[in-house]
Amino acid sequence: MTQAPVTPALVDTDPVESPDRPLGETVEPIIRTALPGPLATEHIAFDETYTSPSMPRAYGIVPVRGEGAIIEDIDGNRFLDFCAGIAVNVTGHCHPEVVDAIRGQAGRLLHYSASDFYLPIYAHLAAELERLAPMSGRTRIFLGNSGAEVVEASIKLARYTTARQNVVAFYGAFHGRTYGAVSLTGSKAKYHAHFGPLLPGIYHVPFGSEGLDELEERIFHRLMPATEFAAVIVEPIQGEGGIVVPDDEFLPRLRRICDGHGIMLIADEVQSGMGRTGKMWAIEHWGVEPDILVTAKGLASGMPIGALIAREEVMTWGPGAHGSTFGGNPVSCAAALATIRLLEGGLMDNATERGEQMLAALAPMVEQYPGIVHDVRGMGLFIGVQFDSGTIAADVEHEAFRRGLLVLTAGDDVVRLTPPLVVTEAQTDAAVRVFMEAVEDVARRQ
Ligand SMILES: Cc1ncc(COP(=O)(O)O)c(C=O)c1O
Repeated sequence: MTQAPVTPALVDTDPVESPDRPLGETVEPIIRTALPGPLATEHIAFDETYTSPSMPRAYGIVPVRGEGAIIEDIDGNRFLDFCAGIAVNVTGHCHPEVVDAIRGQAGRLLHYSASDFYLPIYAHLAAELERLAPMSGRTRIFLGNSGAEVVEASIKLARYTTARQNVVAFYGAFHGRTYGAVSLTGSKAKYHAHFGPLLPGIYHVPFGSEGLDELEERIFHRLMPATEFAAVIVEPIQGEGGIVVPDDEFLPRLRRICDGHGIMLIADEVQSGMGRTGKMWAIEHWGVEPDILVTAKGLASGMPIGALIAREEVMTWGPGAHGSTFGGNPVSCAAALATIRLLEGGLMDNATERGEQMLAALAPMVEQYPGIVHDVRGMGLFIGVQFDSGTIAADVEHEAFRRGLLVLTAGDDVVRLTPPLVVTEAQTDAAVRVFMEAVEDVARRQ
């Protein structure tokens, strides 16, 4: 063991003494220190002594408290959170109804493995997900702990049920970090570097109709017959790849290809699901029904959970074929049930309205900054701004942070804006203004 640095006190979690309005009602960022502030700087040094250097930290935000769409950091600075913990906190930070549901369940039963026993709340959440599933027939549900875990489950299920091995995925896709999921991921080569051999039998094609030409004309024809494919896995709107909305022909045609060859269509709605695009599932914007859908991130407002929803005929596997000790933990299930109530109780509508507000306000940037801003796109509160280079996108992310707006880069050259679905009209206006100031600042330096 090496000499450890002085351990800072575990953060004082009492609110910073402040004459400002309640945290969640904050509209404009309040930045009291240089960023990162003195306590944040001390904490970052402490963190970086002990934690895995593999984690791709974006910038020096050290959050200790959150309410609605606002995050307070360790130095008492208040930020407009247009990251939402990577598109997770759909109901905002610490929504009282989600917190009550968690507290109530935590006081009754913390854990009992639903894989081996009959946990009531697990079946209740499964029934709710069946009601929400974008499939017209009956479905069955498996609950895991994360996005990657249910992506893995979806590939196992597709292989099991079709008795075929190969899988199609798309360039730009992100499906997670575990072996199967990272093998399907096609966004950055560094996610694969030094980890081989990866899962065999995965074929990547471009995202969009052009990729389906490649699939039908070359892959099925020259490399592997369609009848050898178990599944195609697709994000209806690519998230990590840069908020890429496909052409309208793409998903309906993909469905037809799958139908034509007995291939399972898996929709990865880990990021695009749970109301973020204004509908519960992004795939509903194209009226396409998947055979299997996986979701996670927003499902329990930040508690760890993942869900796999499959058409009943597809769930052919029997006892012991798949399970999980923690999957569908009762506290996470309680948070998920509260989350679904809130999404249906108005938050999905707010995602549509605030998304339109934000897209309309940001769109003129393409003409205002020619050669710097290339595209403003997205659906609901799943928005991407594409810049001329990754360096410009990273500079905008940093300038936004300095001004108290949290955003995150995605893909090669995109900044994504994915606020909690509780974000207000005034907070959206403030975020757009701060974002545009950041772009103006970066543009001036080019
Ligand atoms: C579309 C998609 N699928 C899967 C994952 C993996 O989810 P997790 O990080 O919960 O394993 C992610 C994470 O960003 C994702 O965006």
